Amino acid sequence: MYTGKARAYTNIALIKYWGKKDEHLILPMNNSLSLTLDAFYTETTVEFNKSFTEDSFFLDGIKQDQKQTAKITAFLALVRQQYQVSLFAKVDSRNFVPTAAGLASSASGLAALAGACSAALNLGLTDKELSRLARRGSGSACRSIFGGFAEWQKGASDQTSFAEAIVSDNWEQDLAMLFVLVDDGIKDVSSRDGMKRTVETSSFYAGWLSSIDADLKTAKQAIAEKDFTALGEVTEANALRMHGTTLAANPPFTYWSPESLTVMQLVRQARQNGLPCYFTMDAGPNVKILVEKKNLAALKQFLAHHFSSEQLISANAGPGITLLPEEGSEKS
Ligand code: DP6
Repeated sequence: MYTGKARAYTNIALIKYWGKKDEHLILPMNNSLSLTLDAFYTETTVEFNKSFTEDSFFLDGIKQDQKQTAKITAFLALVRQQYQVSLFAKVDSRNFVPTAAGLASSASGLAALAGACSAALNLGLTDKELSRLARRGSGSACRSIFGGFAEWQKGASDQTSFAEAIVSDNWEQDLAMLFVLVDDGIKDVSSRDGMKRTVETSSFYAGWLSSIDADLKTAKQAIAEKDFTALGEVTEANALRMHGTTLAANPPFTYWSPESLTVMQLVRQARQNGLPCYFTMDAGPNVKILVEKKNLAALKQFLAHHFSSEQLISANAGPGITLLPEEGSEKS
């Protein structure tokens, strides 16, 4: 048997990945830029064993059914094909999130799985190769290989589409992200389905794509210059444009709930009160607020009038993937 273990942290995109050019290879329409966080991570152990007759997937100790295992099985099949392995595998994942608040992310999950496979099979992949492999599981996972800021270069092929760390002089250590949990339900429209529908039907999609280069340039310059206002403004504007595309899809949809709008309004109000902070959202109603660490306590205090402490979860910048090969790689 061959076993390996890895830990990967989730990341939140400041400039979003929204749409695929190639659904099979998971090649995106546009580059994206993210911040890896320390508060939410996945630890995954994978065991390839010749006695297994099928793949199995345990999440937080509970065996998952076929539907929940589909993404994992597809990924394992890819690993088997790519690295000439014939054994089935058992995947044991644990999500470390501060509450059971639906914050489990496919980014940390698939990145950890890619790392665990690399460790188990002694593949010795570089970060770039790991990023490419994780991308095949879930696009955003390719960014979780790296700590701090990362940019996913969309590339034009499997070989050229991967994330890279953005050199930032550790500025990300001055930043924090506050999650405002307004809903812990299962998503109505998954990010995978939502972006597909948007690419195929939204008349606003072309507008989204045409704004990406300028947004990325602004974000990277803001990081280079440690300009929080510029980074926050482009983060918020980019998220609004991404969410705008869903309104013009057919059928139209939105990830926003009334509570999401309340949080957005409170963020604007906080800014008016002299507290710089900016929101972003992904494929669900929870809102994430980018804030400087020095202002985090004040922001929490401001929001505490509207939300319970369980609804307010903060994170700092987090590290890249850690392979834990010492647990495994035994052969028998
Ligand atoms: C809105 O990476 O979950 O969070 O590649 O289909 O697995 P698949 O999608 P996924 O999409 C994430 C979309 C997003 C924006 C982002 O993280 O960049």
